[in-house]
Amino acid sequence: MTHDTLRSMTHEDLDVVRAWRNHPSVRDFMFTREEIAAEDHRKWFEKCAADPLRALLIFECGGRPRGFVQFSPALSRGVADWGFYTAPDAEKGTGRRLGQMALTHAFDTLGYERVAGQAIGDNAASIRMHTTLGFTEEGRLRRHFFDGTNWHDIILFGLLNTEWRDSQQG
Ligand SMILES: CC(C)(COP(=O)(O)OP(=O)(O)OC[C@H]1O[C@@H](n2cnc3c(N)ncnc32)[C@H](O)[C@@H]1OP(=O)(O)O)[C@@H](O)C(=O)NCCC(=O)NCCS
Repeated sequence: MTHDTLRSMTHEDLDVVRAWRNHPSVRDFMFTREEIAAEDHRKWFEKCAADPLRALLIFECGGRPRGFVQFSPALSRGVADWGFYTAPDAEKGTGRRLGQMALTHAFDTLGYERVAGQAIGDNAASIRMHTTLGFTEEGRLRRHFFDGTNWHDIILFGLLNTEWRDSQQG
């Protein structure tokens, strides 16, 4: 059984996280799709790491970094938007395990009242992941995102602290 952990991202993770983020299997499902240069990535990290309302986290399996997840402030304090990706060569099931651990952290440790997510309409893995983690589909922004070639719907997901706690009982 692999031992899963979650820890804060550090400067030492910059290269591996940038490599994941720039990989087509991740980049093709993001709202910004340009390759991210090392210097821009470092600036992004330093700005976010200095913000006490943000959490940048690395998911590890057996001590090996396998995914990235972040919680960022939304409209009200206590509400977070989340985003995540797994290593392109991560084994099947990594996303679900990352989500389980990250949401436990978000609700039990960070104390959020609500976590919100957005998925592009053709991102079947993310949509399935949100659904299996207990998110409710709260809306669909029709043809809301243009990727340079095609228009896409955006699906809005939300999960409340009470719903998460109920789902974890028994
Ligand atoms: C989204 C992502 C984190 C999912 O991680 P993963 O390790 O592939 O996911 P899992 O293997 O845990 O699968 C999660 C669920 O999605 C399903 N799934 C995975 N890939 C799928 C696909 N291509 N089509 C349909 N369902 C899929 C799995 O069967 C599983 O459902 P189940 O629990 O009912 O079996 C990962 O694919 C990723 O990093 N994608 C690129 C970045 C991204 O899209 N981030 C999210 C932006 S909203």
